Amino acid sequence: MKDERDEKIEAFENAVRELDISKEDFFEMIQQKSENFFKLMAYYRCAMMEIETKLNVLNEEFSLQYDRNPINSIKTRLKSVNSIREKLERKGFSMNAETIEANIYDVAGLRVICSFPDDVYLLSEALLSQDDITLIEKKDYIKKPKPNGYRSLHLIVDVPIFLAKEKRKMKVEIQLRTIAMDCWASLEHQLRYKKDLEFTSEMAHELALCANLSAELDMRMDALRQIVTEKKDMKNG
Ligand code: GTP
Ligand code: MG
Repeated sequence: MKDERDEKIEAFENAVRELDISKEDFFEMIQQKSENFFKLMAYYRCAMMEIETKLNVLNEEFSLQYDRNPINSIKTRLKSVNSIREKLERKGFSMNAETIEANIYDVAGLRVICSFPDDVYLLSEALLSQDDITLIEKKDYIKKPKPNGYRSLHLIVDVPIFLAKEKRKMKVEIQLRTIAMDCWASLEHQLRYKKDLEFTSEMAHELALCANLSAELDMRMDALRQIVTEKKDMKNG
């Protein structure tokens, strides 16, 4: 008796037969497709490293100049194969290296956690002024927070990576936010992903209040920073 697995194999073999190509050609095609995919992922990883290095250099320079670090931490991530496939399906595209590059702008992502809101703008302006970086898209959810209270500065940039025989421009998404903004976003993400739970309007309201508290925390800490800087400047003459 045929089990489910046998039926799947049979359906697969029938589908290959209908393609009217030999099994050898078919597997070569699959191999080529997966090679292209892994090559593309490696390029995105390189682009992510380029941006991370640029940010670390800016952090280093700033810490020498002002005796403090604007960057608290940097997190990097490559989008998973499944998330890429789902996003492409949602947009109505099949999955291959070309459709990924043309339609998914957040395959390579960096999250830059800054100390103060000013640092977010200082870093983004310094990065965007570099002559090999091209800004593709900017969403300022700090100046204009999302209705739920989410705050962050989102950039999508093109950055060149230099390979043995070519230069390739890759897209990278950079999210810049303060520690307080990150705290809110991380907890909100956790709460929202408890999908079996109904998210009531009271809960949404409470979350928005928490976002206001986190914005106030940023403001007050920033005021304190200014006082500390002034005192330090006075002491140093
Ligand atoms: P994409 O097609 O996925 O880029 O959608 P979009 O352009 O409408 O989204 P946007 O660029 O505004 O935000 C994308 C990313 O920002 C998400 O994957 C999250 O990491 C983060 N983000 C956006 N909104 C929220 C939010 O309300 N809460 C949290 N925790 N994260 C958010
Ligand atoms: Mg986006």
